[in-house]
Amino acid sequence: METNIRDIYADIDRILISEEELQTRVRELAAQIEADYADEEDLLLICVLKGGFVVLSDLSRALKRPHALDFMGVSSYGASTASSGAVQILLDLREPIEGRNVLIVEDIIDSGHTLNYLRHNLLARNPASLRICTLLNKPSRREADVYVEYIGFDIPDEFVVGYGLDFAEIYRNFPFIAVLKPEVFAHLT
Ligand code: IMP
Ligand code: MG
Repeated sequence: METNIRDIYADIDRILISEEELQTRVRELAAQIEADYADEEDLLLICVLKGGFVVLSDLSRALKRPHALDFMGVSSYGASTASSGAVQILLDLREPIEGRNVLIVEDIIDSGHTLNYLRHNLLARNPASLRICTLLNKPSRREADVYVEYIGFDIPDEFVVGYGLDFAEIYRNFPFIAVLKPEVFAHLT
């Protein structure tokens, strides 16, 4: 079919993590979470929007145990690929989390500023427990020291898109994690 809509698949330089690898790893994380929370009746997953929506959706469906979901929106990079360090809450939780077992679900931890801020912000609300699950981790980029209990994949210092992660709000729908061609970023410099 002829179309004037840009082919986002043509912007891919290479696929870093395939759809199959992602699905396998998310199921492993779910099994680990089920084992760790086996004695806990309560579990609340908090999705960090927007990037966390795909991993949250797959992780939630991979869990066979009961759990509740809530959502938090935090400021992202906008159209830039570097973190400012300043974090802003754009959407807050619907319910109090006092006494709850809270598991934050994130797409990626890069500098660590976002999760460092979120951890402190949520701890101040007195949950029974608070842990972090991130699909991706860029250890070489860490500026804020934040402990992450569940990590899907360690990745090198490259800007990635897909499986929830965007560049300038596009590419979130790729079912894999990809690196874009350098010319896609060219208009920023
Ligand atoms: P941090 O505060 O630097 O750890 O950044 C965390 C947030 O930055 C994530 O939730 C993402 O929205 C965004 N981010 C960091 N690295 C990437 C990337 O490689 N691709 C897309 N978004 C990213
Ligand atoms: Mg983003």
